[in-house]
Amino acid sequence: MGKETTDFRYNTGATKVPWAAVGEDYNAQDLMEIVKFLMQGKGEEHDAALAEVDAAVHKLSAISTPPGKLSLAGKVEELEKMVDEYLGVAPGSSLFVTNCTSAFEVAYRYADIKPGDEVIVPAITFIATMAYPLGAGAKLVFADIDPKTLNMDPADVARKITPKTKMIVPVHIGGYPVDMDPIMELAKKHDIIVLEDAAHGFGGSYKGRKLGTIGHFGAYSFHEVKNCTSFGEGGILVTNIPEFRAEARRARFLGVDFSNKIKNWLYDVSCIKGKYGPFMSANTSVTEIQALGLIQQMKRYDKILAERRRESTYMTERLSGNPAIIPQDLGNADIDPTFHLYLLQIDPEKAGGDVQKLKQKLDEKGVTNIPHFGPLYRFAAVKEMGLDPDAAAASCPVCEEVFDRRFTHLPIYGLSDEQLKYMADAILESVKEMQEGR
Ligand SMILES: Cc1ncc(COP(=O)(O)O)c(C=O)c1O
Repeated sequence: MGKETTDFRYNTGATKVPWAAVGEDYNAQDLMEIVKFLMQGKGEEHDAALAEVDAAVHKLSAISTPPGKLSLAGKVEELEKMVDEYLGVAPGSSLFVTNCTSAFEVAYRYADIKPGDEVIVPAITFIATMAYPLGAGAKLVFADIDPKTLNMDPADVARKITPKTKMIVPVHIGGYPVDMDPIMELAKKHDIIVLEDAAHGFGGSYKGRKLGTIGHFGAYSFHEVKNCTSFGEGGILVTNIPEFRAEARRARFLGVDFSNKIKNWLYDVSCIKGKYGPFMSANTSVTEIQALGLIQQMKRYDKILAERRRESTYMTERLSGNPAIIPQDLGNADIDPTFHLYLLQIDPEKAGGDVQKLKQKLDEKGVTNIPHFGPLYRFAAVKEMGLDPDAAAASCPVCEEVFDRRFTHLPIYGLSDEQLKYMADAILESVKEMQEGR
């Protein structure tokens, strides 16, 4: 049992009967099942390679002791340092947690979101952005979107701030930066906490600052469908509030920070200090394996982003000729997107039909119709929690028009040149058909 570490539960000194004996380690067969699961394949060559690895792993396990610690230890710390450096934030700003939704929860709890409070979220995003305030009984206020980017429109945010507004949650949809300067100005003026939903925005930047590091909090997702993943699930919370850095570390696991020794189990575990008072945290711990997975992917992340940019650039160049088509914006010196999703828009008047018709045509031609983000206020959960979807829709006219008639997202990563060409041709051809009334 080699579980010597930062975890106070194993720091019980040299004993004949160690505390760590209450847990279980993994063996060579467990490891092989993981290799088989991650490296799936078929055929003789695959089976032969697997047999070689199997033999080597069993041999290794015979000569080495199990490394031991599986949760919240050295690899998690190493990853957090790597992310701090990558983002250019103060040491200790990044916290690796179960997923982006649990990272949001820490920020929402810090702000003590409760019934009567108002939280401004963009009209279009994924339900995870609003799950905590909705469940906590706060009032969600939907900001209309900028039709060019689908991101929240700062001018509409300004119109919707009231004395009850406690948080603004800008979402960098598809990895395209929100116009953060006006939002931060509003937040400063009205003493509002800003949580950036940078689930899609890891590595992108706005005016030289990485997305997720501009607000009081930022959160990234490393779920398997994102630009890089910590083996399926994972999130990072970043905080710009220096006095909350140590608190965030405790907030990850029920008030305990594993990098500090606990002297007295009963009395040293206390509540977390939020902005308006103490709060009790949940458990959003992560494993060393998840951290290791993300460390590996981060080592090649620049290449991943460059490839996404290359594929998006090809599509935008191919689609730029027809005035009915509005391709993904590629950014500029101030705006560096992550190209998590490719945003395709059309002008229904010039295209002779709306995006629903285009999507149907693309579907018929074999271009995947990926389910994209829709108006948050249309989720059944919003109505079930007592909010009026129609009133929200009336306050977000741009969102209504853009969602129904103008935009879709395209897959944009890992495509061959042939697939990219096929997709661009299919879009050009479909819009031409629509313009010709077919
Ligand atoms: C915009 C947005 N925010 C938040 C999340 C939640 O991320 P996670 O699955 O890591 O909790 C997602 C996930 O798809 C997302 O698309």
